[in-house]
Amino acid sequence: MKKEIHTKREGFSSSIGVIAAVLGSAVGLGNIWKFPYVTGANGGAAFILVYLLCVALVGLPVMLSEHLIGRHTKANAVGAFKALQPRRPWLLVGGAGVLSAFLIMAFYTTVAGWIYAYIFKAAGGALISAKPEDTFGVFNSLISGVGEPLFWQWLVLLVIGTIIMAGVTKGIERVTKLLMPLLFILLLVIDIRSLTLPGAGEGLAFLFKPDFSKITFSVVLAALGLAFFKLSVGMGAMITYGSYVDKNENLPKMAIKVALADTLVSLMAGIAIFPAVFALGFEPNQGAKLLFVIIPAVFNSMPFGRVFMVLFFMLTAVAATGAMLSLLEVPIAYLTEQYRWTRRKATLLTILAIGLLGSTATLSNSVFANVIVFGKTFFDLFDFTTSNILLPVGGIFVALFVGWQWGYAKVKREMSNEGRLKNDGLVRIYMFLVKFIVPIAIVIVLLAGLNLINPIISFFKDISI
Ligand code: PHE
Repeated sequence: MKKEIHTKREGFSSSIGVIAAVLGSAVGLGNIWKFPYVTGANGGAAFILVYLLCVALVGLPVMLSEHLIGRHTKANAVGAFKALQPRRPWLLVGGAGVLSAFLIMAFYTTVAGWIYAYIFKAAGGALISAKPEDTFGVFNSLISGVGEPLFWQWLVLLVIGTIIMAGVTKGIERVTKLLMPLLFILLLVIDIRSLTLPGAGEGLAFLFKPDFSKITFSVVLAALGLAFFKLSVGMGAMITYGSYVDKNENLPKMAIKVALADTLVSLMAGIAIFPAVFALGFEPNQGAKLLFVIIPAVFNSMPFGRVFMVLFFMLTAVAATGAMLSLLEVPIAYLTEQYRWTRRKATLLTILAIGLLGSTATLSNSVFANVIVFGKTFFDLFDFTTSNILLPVGGIFVALFVGWQWGYAKVKREMSNEGRLKNDGLVRIYMFLVKFIVPIAIVIVLLAGLNLINPIISFFKDISI
């Protein structure tokens, strides 16, 4: 019975398609919107160094773990844990992933909506000014509206819902394979323009000359959270995508390639933005609006800027869409496989739920501006709790599962494609990382970053008295 379901499952049709889809999940608003603004808010180069460490030592091993689990079980995030450990509560890890997918989508679709809107604003000429104050005005009126940002968010949901209903290979693979290289080339163009603006050097120094006095534990937590968000790990998206990957694929190699390419895109986005920020006399710690204010100003200082600007926001929309497809695929795979819902029903109901939740994020700058939960608006709350809490916690359990529960021999068999790949050394390094480094590092960073160490110490002191 089970076998039958598995053979009927769709999968990615080629090696290049797999990379494109996994990279399509990783590359998105995380690189172009979030990486620059979080870097700007946390002091620049030193933050980037910590971020790179988080990617290499934590994000990458967790990504590989998810691919291994997904490919081995050929199941969705919950089903995968169920298949490997039917009687233990590990499937809660998958369940938490499904929840994370909803929460991320709630604010991600808000920002994606702003991007979609910007395509039309750029084309229509609303963004023609090289002064950040002017572009800021346009952005502000967009996000503090009600009907306009909601319209764009729901349009985004409609678009991804339609693609997801078309299915895995036809929908996801085709769209991402085509447009990723174009985005890369356009980023290169903007990088060159930004770097040749007079006064750009200060921006480069901000990006590459570290000042370690800026590093605190909450900065490290922000870097760790960004690494999880960026690589799409800690919530089952990579388990789900891993489940569509062929048995002959070299998984460690693929994860390394994806992490490298993804990081390159983030750095390129940083180079597109920061030299311009400084050249235009702007502050780097502008928060979420950085991309929307600076990038139009850069384009407006170059020939054919308007054409390039439209193209840039279109490609960013495509990248965001690829990432959202993988987010949406987590609940969809779960609902269709665990509850036997049709793909259509699962998609429609999921989109509706995300739309309702996401509307609260979108209205965080207007109707709900004064609704503050744990010191944050809905938008910031969804963003913070997913990146800085849920994803890292998910990562701890994924690593512990592979390191301590699944067992060395089985992991080795999956990672070496049943012994066909000779990668013993790599398996050993990887197992050491997931057994010790990943869980310990995340626990320390989480506790310290959330300021929980002192309360915990005093709690135990009280008990011992
Ligand atoms: N990695 C995506 C980005 O950077 C976001 C994402 C997170 C996608 C988690 C899937 C899962 O935009």
